[in-house]
Amino acid sequence: MRFRRRPQAKAAAIAVAAVTALSTVAVAIATTDTATAGAARAGAASAGAATAGLDPTTSTLRELAQHTGLRIGTAVDTAALQADSTYRTLVAQQFSSVTPENVMKWEAVEPERGKSDFSAADQLVDFARANRQTVRGHTLVWHNQLPAWLTSGTWTKAELREILRQHIFTEAGHFRGRIWAWDVVNEAFNDDGTLRDTLWLRVLGPSYLADAFRWAHQADPKAVLFYNDYNIEGINPKSDAVFDLVRSLRSAGVPVQGVGLQGHLGTQYDAPGDVLQNLRRFARLGVETAITEADVRSVLPVDSAELQAQTNGYSLMMESCLLTPRCVSYTVWGFTDKYQWVPGVFPGQGAAALYDENFVPRPAYDALRRDLALAR
Ligand code: XIL
Repeated sequence: MRFRRRPQAKAAAIAVAAVTALSTVAVAIATTDTATAGAARAGAASAGAATAGLDPTTSTLRELAQHTGLRIGTAVDTAALQADSTYRTLVAQQFSSVTPENVMKWEAVEPERGKSDFSAADQLVDFARANRQTVRGHTLVWHNQLPAWLTSGTWTKAELREILRQHIFTEAGHFRGRIWAWDVVNEAFNDDGTLRDTLWLRVLGPSYLADAFRWAHQADPKAVLFYNDYNIEGINPKSDAVFDLVRSLRSAGVPVQGVGLQGHLGTQYDAPGDVLQNLRRFARLGVETAITEADVRSVLPVDSAELQAQTNGYSLMMESCLLTPRCVSYTVWGFTDKYQWVPGVFPGQGAAALYDENFVPRPAYDALRRDLALAR
């Protein structure tokens, strides 16, 4: 099992035997590393996990990902980040990228019209900077978690267009230069590939999509701008529609540079078989890709077969991403069941994260570490 990360890489493939042989040495190195957790390990860059002396059974995801150039991220619950020191330590040690789970959403940043509040999001951006992590901004245009003043109002097309423009300029402008990638538009399609009936589509028509990307680019020219959605991991009518949208926006000169596959899977469903082909067609289109919200839930209580299926789901997305040169990040949507969104939204389901509610890692965590270690 070898995942070629960069087509130009000449390094020899990492044999499993070599990784095993290095493990005694690696334990000592990993212990030293713990003391400097969060620090960038420039020396390990492009060396390969085995060459860098990293043992996939003891090193962190972040350490193991470094040679691949892939950012490994998590959604962050900022209340937990403040209150729970185990949570905080793991965010810093295991991940090189963070996404605010809720605090950059419109209802959080502008609960009252005209009064922006970026305090919670600023704290996370500061945390990321202190820990040398990149930030994925999430999300500028969505139909959920909008402030009540916006959803309860009646707006003309001109008024709503100006409200959206203002929102994007204010928020992307506030974080200008501090956000690596923005999920500019989130979840604009239905599963059948038609555009979702939202406030934006109803009042503004489909041109809101191009507008949003143009405004975001003007507000923060260096941020990588993503379209983000769920159920687009494999090739299906919805991912076809996203593909067509991105192709037509780019041919019209609209600045969209990435496609985010959320990656919310469930062990009760078949795993998409063609994630790799899907990522590769987007790469051929010239855009970056990312797994932005990976989790694999089950109907509770979870049994060992479901844990195995979960491991396969996490690993399928990771391996597909590692095999696609322009797949730039892999983010999990909450790394512990202690603070994870699934039970609140899918009653009776859960056990979706890499760590359980006591911060005990699941088999999926080890599988991701192995995948990263084997990448070249
Ligand atoms: C979820 C959060 O995890 C929850 O805490 C919140 O109550 C609802 O939103 N797709 C997305 C995310 O793009 O923003 C959603 O996050 C999960 C689905």
